[in-house]
Amino acid sequence: MQRTLAIVKPDGVQRGLIGEVIRRLEQNQLSIIAMKMIHMTRIQAEGFYAVHRERPFFESLTSFMSSGPCVVMVLEGEKAIARYRGLMGATNYKEAAEGTIRREFATDIEKNVVHGSDAPETAAFEIGYFFNRFEILR
Ligand code: CMP
Repeated sequence: MQRTLAIVKPDGVQRGLIGEVIRRLEQNQLSIIAMKMIHMTRIQAEGFYAVHRERPFFESLTSFMSSGPCVVMVLEGEKAIARYRGLMGATNYKEAAEGTIRREFATDIEKNVVHGSDAPETAAFEIGYFFNRFEILR
């Protein structure tokens, strides 16, 4: 069993896609073991995306991620990291496979509806960034 962090980003929440994302998780045996709605401050978004600090899109990304509410979730399942990344599709929606969340709903490389951890180490950091152990129901 593996855990990963999933986020429905501000564009996804604003466009009414929370249910669509959750439906796909439930249909694909990714169990939601923690979930909450948050509105990140700029500082919180900068901490979450600290690995991207030197990237040219950092300012814009952290501004976007703190622009409105997000839904953050901890998912659990067999190979949860890779399977959820498969459901999301590539970061750039133009390169995302048919039928993926980003291919169907993203409007921009930044406004790409969802986020998911990319490796076990990042999942551990990202889950711990938003949830304490009493909020994770396993
Ligand atoms: P995410 O999976 O949350 O990880 C970093 C985010 O930066 C990414 O999704 C995009 O929303 C955003 N981003 C904006 N521009 C780029 C870019 N050129 N390459 C990668 N990520 C980008």
